[in-house]
Amino acid sequence: MIVLIIILAVSSIGWLYISCRSLNRIAAMSDKLINLILFGGIFLFLTPFLFVFWLLKLSPLSSDLFFLNFREILNQNFFTSILVLIGFIAFSAEIIRRKIVKKLKSIGINKKVQLESTKYIDCVRFFPTTSLWKHIYKIASLIPGNKINKLYLHNYKIVIPENFKNINHIRIVHLTDIHYVRKVSSKYYEKIVSAVNECNPDLILFTGDFFQNPETVIDLKPIFSKLKAKYGIYFVCGNHDIWHDGKPTVEMLQEIGFVHLAGKVKAVEINGNEIYLAGTERPWIKDNIVKNLAGIPDNSFVILLSHTPDNIRKYPLRNIKLVLSGHTHGGQNALPGLGPLIIPSKYGSAHESGFVEFNNSLLYISRGVALHSPLRTMCPLELAVIDVEV
Ligand SMILES: [Fe+2]
Repeated sequence: MIVLIIILAVSSIGWLYISCRSLNRIAAMSDKLINLILFGGIFLFLTPFLFVFWLLKLSPLSSDLFFLNFREILNQNFFTSILVLIGFIAFSAEIIRRKIVKKLKSIGINKKVQLESTKYIDCVRFFPTTSLWKHIYKIASLIPGNKINKLYLHNYKIVIPENFKNINHIRIVHLTDIHYVRKVSSKYYEKIVSAVNECNPDLILFTGDFFQNPETVIDLKPIFSKLKAKYGIYFVCGNHDIWHDGKPTVEMLQEIGFVHLAGKVKAVEINGNEIYLAGTERPWIKDNIVKNLAGIPDNSFVILLSHTPDNIRKYPLRNIKLVLSGHTHGGQNALPGLGPLIIPSKYGSAHESGFVEFNNSLLYISRGVALHSPLRTMCPLELAVIDVEV
């Protein structure tokens, strides 16, 4: 009986993985299907029911406390046994796959990326202070593993050998997935701005999802207009901005001097050397990014902004040394030891968060700074300061 309980528990989680992985893949197929991701939570709630259902069905066939007669169970309930077996294998395979992916990821990355320091901003003081949200955030923050209490500021150093004459260092601040909402204190967004300015960045690069609601666009204008970067502030929109008619967002950001890189490439001069910044809002907006990237001279230094990390596997990476992305929120919620289940990427946990190396290009997927939801289990908020040594 105990063996049966363990097998059924593992197997029902295995089916949770199968359902969520299929959902991730279907949702990543087109923009219209991406909302399916929201239904992922249903599987989480269905898992205990599946476990109980199987237990009620198979436990009469297993009278012994430890011993399990597999052949007897298979003979008497073939269909359920096969489903249990598939779930069990899926769970084991997914755990092994994740461990291998993680290990392989770290081997190449550790040589190129170093985490120099980590600071954090206490978020509790910015939680909603009125209405029901005040209590929801307070209760949610007590849930073990919920990471809404702190915003981590990671300072990474990456080495990309280049032959620049007058620069050997570029400091980039990467911000993504702000998901501005009025229920969170505006002081949270002001704190992010002051923390970014304190870093003295050369470039500030945004990879979209500025707002949850288009009516709030005006709120961020006075806050973001205080951002300062020596060589400019550049952005692309995310799916949420585009769904809510990105025009007011783009206009507001352009009014305060941000440069919109929708399918475009811009040359930026730093101490007499040229680097190129490019951006794409695909798959949500069709653009000429492939043609425009092809026009960049050979052996140039190019940084690409793309809301979804999946674009790195779709377009030629010639000259692109660094890709910055968001979109996945690290899965938003993860299970301890098992990782996130719902990741809005065709590549699942490979595009969860952090640095990924692909065809000699480095991809950084940030979990973002969105405090719009009171639940982020095992998925801390983050803002990255990336020092590129060239
Ligand atoms: Fe987002």
